[in-house]
Amino acid sequence: MAINTSVKHILTAGQFNKEDLENILQRTEVMEKECKSGEVKKLLTNKIVACIFFEPSTRTRLSFSAAALKLGAQIISAENAALDFSVHKGESIEDTARMILSYADLMVMRHPRAGSVSLAAEVAKKPVINAGDGGNEHPTQAVLDLYTIKKRLGRLDDLNIAFGFDPKHSRTIRSLALLLTHYKNNRFTFVCSEALAPLPEFLKDLEKRGARFEVISNLDRWQDYDIFYANRLQEERFKDKNEFEKYRRDFVITRKLVEGSKTMILDPLPRIDEIELGVDALPNALYFDQAQNGLYVRMALLLYSMGM
Ligand code: NCD
Repeated sequence: MAINTSVKHILTAGQFNKEDLENILQRTEVMEKECKSGEVKKLLTNKIVACIFFEPSTRTRLSFSAAALKLGAQIISAENAALDFSVHKGESIEDTARMILSYADLMVMRHPRAGSVSLAAEVAKKPVINAGDGGNEHPTQAVLDLYTIKKRLGRLDDLNIAFGFDPKHSRTIRSLALLLTHYKNNRFTFVCSEALAPLPEFLKDLEKRGARFEVISNLDRWQDYDIFYANRLQEERFKDKNEFEKYRRDFVITRKLVEGSKTMILDPLPRIDEIELGVDALPNALYFDQAQNGLYVRMALLLYSMGM
C-alpha cells in the first residue's frame, strides 16, 4: 500500500526540502518566543494527540506531550505499548494504527523495528510522526538538532561536524546527517571503532546527496570541529552484548579534551559513557539546551503535520 501524500506525515528526515526546513525553523522561533512570554496561541484546542511508544523514551515522549498541551490539545498516550497494547496479543501495527487514529487526530509513534512507523502511516488518513523507528531514523530529533546548531552558530552551512560513536546503529546521527546535506559545504567525520562504522547503504545515500564525509577511529582532530555530535553506543541494537561491552569505552569525551576548544558538543541524550560529567559545566556543552529546544521544535512540527 502507498502512503497518502496529502497527509503531512513526518517519517524520514529525507522527506524535507530546504524550504520546509526554513519554515519549520522560523515557526520554532515563534514557538520559543511564545513559550518564554507565556502567551502560546492554543491552535490545537479540541484536538487529540496520541503518543504511542513501544520503546523507552524520556525527552521525546514528554516534549511531544508538553508541546501538544502548550498548544491546547489533549493527549492519549502509551509509554509501554509493547506490553500494554494488543500487539502483545499479536495485533498488527497497521490495525493498531487504524484504531488509535479513529480516536486521535494525530499519532506520534516510536517502535523498535525499522520501517514500522511507515507501515502505520500507510493505513493512516491522519498524520503520523516518527519518534524513532529502530536503528533507522528519528527525524524530529534531527530538526531540533538543526535548530540548536542554527541558534548557537547562526548558520547551517560551512560546518565541520563530527558524529560519534555508533553511526552504525544511531538513528539520530543518520537523520541529522541527512538534513545537513541540504546546506552548502558541510563536512562530516564519523568517529567510531571500525565495527561501528556507518552502513554502506547510508554512505551511498549521503554520496548521492553530494555530502563530503570520512570515517576515522580517533579524536585527534577535536580542535577542528565546529560541532561534535555524540551519541551513546546503542546497546539495544547490538545482537551480541559482548560486542557492546567490547566497544563501549573506546571513546569518551573528557573535560581535558574539550577545555579551551571552541567545539560545541551536542548529544540527543541519554548520556551513558560517551561524555564525562565534568564536561557539563563547560560552555561547549549544548546538550541540555538542545533537549529543551525539543519542546519548541515539536510544537512547530505538530502544527506542520496538522497543516497549520
Ligand atoms: C535518542 C533515540 O531515542 O534515538 N534519544 C532521544 O530521542 N533523545 C538517542 C538515544 O537513545 O541514544
